[in-house]
Amino acid sequence: MSSYVVTGAAKGIGLEFVTQLSANSANTVFAIVRNKSTATQLSALSRTNIIVLEADVTDAKTLKRAATEVSKTTGGKLDYLINNAGKTNHPGFTIDGFPTTEALEHDLLDNFKTNTIGVIHSTNAFLPLLKNGVAKKVVSLSSALADTDITVASQVVGEPSYAISKAAINMVVAKYAAQYMAEGFTFLAICPGMVKTSMLPTGPDAVEELKMLTEAAARVAPDFKGPHLA
Ligand SMILES: NC(=O)c1ccc[n+]([C@@H]2O[C@H](COP(=O)([O-])OP(=O)(O)OC[C@H]3O[C@@H](n4cnc5c(N)ncnc54)[C@H](OP(=O)(O)O)[C@@H]3O)[C@@H](O)[C@H]2O)c1
Repeated sequence: MSSYVVTGAAKGIGLEFVTQLSANSANTVFAIVRNKSTATQLSALSRTNIIVLEADVTDAKTLKRAATEVSKTTGGKLDYLINNAGKTNHPGFTIDGFPTTEALEHDLLDNFKTNTIGVIHSTNAFLPLLKNGVAKKVVSLSSALADTDITVASQVVGEPSYAISKAAINMVVAKYAAQYMAEGFTFLAICPGMVKTSMLPTGPDAVEELKMLTEAAARVAPDFKGPHLA
């Protein structure tokens, strides 16, 4: 029997992690959402081994409260943490193309706060429990857009703040790995591929943005046909 915490579990890839992990009734899955009352797809799963907790990854206090709740159920242990919560604002500008300096700074800091600092707050909140767990595994969702070689080869010029914040996650993961490998921990940054969730562009420019991303992906992966369905 293993215990899992998944952040950003209300929809998209996080919801799919919870769905698949909780299919094994021996697992206990703690699904972290910002708002329980709007997490309807999660509640529709209606499985007794899913425990839904509220936390915002930009607010360390709420994550510590969630960790206390997990601890009460598991006796102070956790096996796996999946840092899945993330965001992008789809600004539609290149790194030098924002209309104002303020708009650029806002987008950079906003992405960094959720995507990078959020992973640090979440990992720090659950580390004391993970140390008592058996698996000692922490998976954080990064992105191919954070890869320097892929960025240059595919010529993806959009989503600068998102890409930078996800590249920073890779270093966050390396820092934890360096510190905790001697204690048997595995820290991993993964990219799920391009998945059709609310993360992908949906605004008026969505078709153009998706076309641009698909063309860029095809430059480095000629077999690429488009995003997976969530
Ligand atoms: N989809 C892709 O193609 C793709 C590619 C590479 C990497 N990823 C990464 O995969 C992860 C999951 O993305 P997704 O595609 O499933 O996107 P999604 O459908 O938009 O889901 C993102 C989840 O993160 C949650 N979230 C956002 N800000 C949060 C905060 N401050 N505190 C707590 N939760 C927060 C959202 O909560 P609400 O439900 O409350 O909005 C939502 O449940 C992200 O880290 C993303 O960057 C996705």
